[in-house]
Amino acid sequence: MVLKAVVSVVVLVGVVVIPAFTSSNSGDLTRPQPREWPCPIETDFYPCVCTNNENYELSIDCSAVETDQDLSDAFYYAEFPFSHFKEFKIEHDPNDPKMTLTTLDPYTFRTLTFERITISGTKIEIIQDEDFSNSHDTLTYLNLASNKITYFPFDSIQGYTNLQTLSLDDNQIEVWPNFESDSLEYLSFSGNEGITLTDFTNTPNLREIYMARNKHDTLPYQLFWNLFNLTVVDLQRNEMTFVDEYYIASQSNALTTINLDHNKISVIRHDAFHGHVCSHTEEIGVWS
Ligand SMILES: *[C@@H]1O[C@H](CO)[C@@H](O)[C@H](O)[C@H]1NC(C)=O
Repeated sequence: MVLKAVVSVVVLVGVVVIPAFTSSNSGDLTRPQPREWPCPIETDFYPCVCTNNENYELSIDCSAVETDQDLSDAFYYAEFPFSHFKEFKIEHDPNDPKMTLTTLDPYTFRTLTFERITISGTKIEIIQDEDFSNSHDTLTYLNLASNKITYFPFDSIQGYTNLQTLSLDDNQIEVWPNFESDSLEYLSFSGNEGITLTDFTNTPNLREIYMARNKHDTLPYQLFWNLFNLTVVDLQRNEMTFVDEYYIASQSNALTTINLDHNKISVIRHDAFHGHVCSHTEEIGVWS
């Protein structure tokens, strides 16, 4: 941890080291350190808020940003003593008419890197390929639930080599393509009504898949077959009327939960839950 190392040096050497920071930051040695160091100066970054915790992890919360302009201004005027952040967050109430954030500008975040990003409840429709591109090596968690997303750059996912969790719940994505990711383990795209599925052959490490409330009436044949680590499949509140052979079959022997609650299922074919699946499955819910 670079930040941790730097902070301990300050403690040991004190006064000798501090000018190096002030000069790179403001160039004015007489100016007192802002209270929120190592964050940007509070007023420059308004209405975004930067905090650091006892483990020297920095986080940014821009939930108070109302417009596209607010967001780009906050990042434009702030100077960042450190560029790596544990978390970035914008959480809007989707029903608040004051909140009109519609776009992320790929240059907004400049050279900052993030581990966890949550942007929810906004009016954003399009996620551009480069929106988070500085975080290719650092991003582990991306939560873009409850926006208005119609376009998401699935082809760029493979570039995020440590991304484990992706949530696109409650958006308006029409096609779930067969994109590649070697790192992805938790995937959630519930509440994208009418979404078309291809398959999951290029995301082999998936453990949990949430695809509730999508109006699925059928599933592609052997959709889950190559997922050796699959443990949870959530298909609640869809429109499935029957569960055909090999519908929820995978070669995993860790599958513990298949949730089919609130569908319209009248027929479950023999071999619908196949192979290792059946003998190890602890819970198959089919309540309607
Ligand atoms: C499954 O999980 C194990 C460890 O839990 C891991 O070594 C393996 O690479 C994972 N992926 C596949 C496709 O088996």
